[in-house]
Amino acid sequence: MVQVRLLNLTKTYLSGQVVALDNVNLELPKGQFLAVLGPSGCGKSTLLRVVAGLERPDQGEIWIAGRRVDPLPPARRNVAMVFQNYALYPHFTVYQNIAIGLKLRGYSRAEIQKRVLKVARMLGLEGLFDRYPRELSGGQQQRTALARALVRDPEVFLLDEPLSNLDAQIREETRSELKRLFQDLGATVIYVTHDQIEALTMADLVAVMFHGRIFQVGPPEEVYRYPTHRRVAEFVGVPRINILRGRIKDRTFFSEDQIVKIPVGFDYEGPVELGVRPESLRPGGEGFKLKARVLWVESWGPQKILFLALGPYELRALVAADFPASPGEELEVALRLEEVHLFHPETGERLSF
Ligand SMILES: Nc1ncnc2c1ncn2[C@@H]1O[C@H](COP(=O)(O)OP(=O)(O)OP(=O)(O)O)[C@@H](O)[C@H]1O
Ligand SMILES: [Mg+2]
Repeated sequence: MVQVRLLNLTKTYLSGQVVALDNVNLELPKGQFLAVLGPSGCGKSTLLRVVAGLERPDQGEIWIAGRRVDPLPPARRNVAMVFQNYALYPHFTVYQNIAIGLKLRGYSRAEIQKRVLKVARMLGLEGLFDRYPRELSGGQQQRTALARALVRDPEVFLLDEPLSNLDAQIREETRSELKRLFQDLGATVIYVTHDQIEALTMADLVAVMFHGRIFQVGPPEEVYRYPTHRRVAEFVGVPRINILRGRIKDRTFFSEDQIVKIPVGFDYEGPVELGVRPESLRPGGEGFKLKARVLWVESWGPQKILFLALGPYELRALVAADFPASPGEELEVALRLEEVHLFHPETGERLSF
């Protein structure tokens, strides 16, 4: 069952000068966790604010649980939102901040207490009920904001970069806790982030957004393995995908200077951009062999990145930390041809499958 449906949503600011949402279409099944991933300024917060009813779209429709909600005020949409800046009430205690939504909706005192206690226990906030937001750390404020959303039983949770103010360790812990929590609740979630690790690890579906447009929606693995656009391929994946410009002739890729030749076996003639992920280049491995020279090496915990010169090109290869390689060395890197991505050089659209 579709829980959230967005139809041709468009939102502009400054009399049309800024297009924050550009004809967005999206369907989110009930109980699924959708991560909206994109760089700063691409329209992620705007998308959530429009769904929550805090902004009016210029155009389009919003359906939640089979009901068209875009003409309704925020309070009648039954969504719970966690804001990018938490937006806690400064003159309310932690308890009051968590309880306020239930109170406004007329829940009994006993029911409020029951729900607040349950959620506070889950998030480790019981000892902090009487504190004010200014007396909390960033992480505690963040959990209070989450608790305020979780005491509700909304049709959809909207979360705007809820982990961005946490340090790396707490962030990683909270990431998996949150994921499990929403899974246990069977909740439908739209989770906005510019962090690809968060998106790929937490989500059932990832929507990748640039300039107000959704470029691709799919399960994390699909978005990673079959990016439908060069920008998606470049945005998702660390270290970044290598891109070579050239053309295909006789089912073979020729780099612009003809130095690199790769038999891609793809029926297409004309200019292309060829993408190879760093882990698809395997020094000493099986596959189509290319000769390269090591420029330098960066260690990266359990792995290291080799910067390789391939003719005039510089490519990144990801290898195990114990792989022996030092600058100046010549080596053979193997490329699995089925892991090559081809994109149209002008439109950026994927050509190969
Ligand atoms: N009230 C506003 N008036 C004018 N322009 C706005 C307004 N709100 C947002 N914008 C513009 O709309 C675009 C999308 O903004 P939005 O806040 O949705 O981006 P975002 O993806 O959430 O970015 P970030 O990751 O930095 O939070 C940006 O270009 C922004 O400058
Ligand atoms: Mg934002």
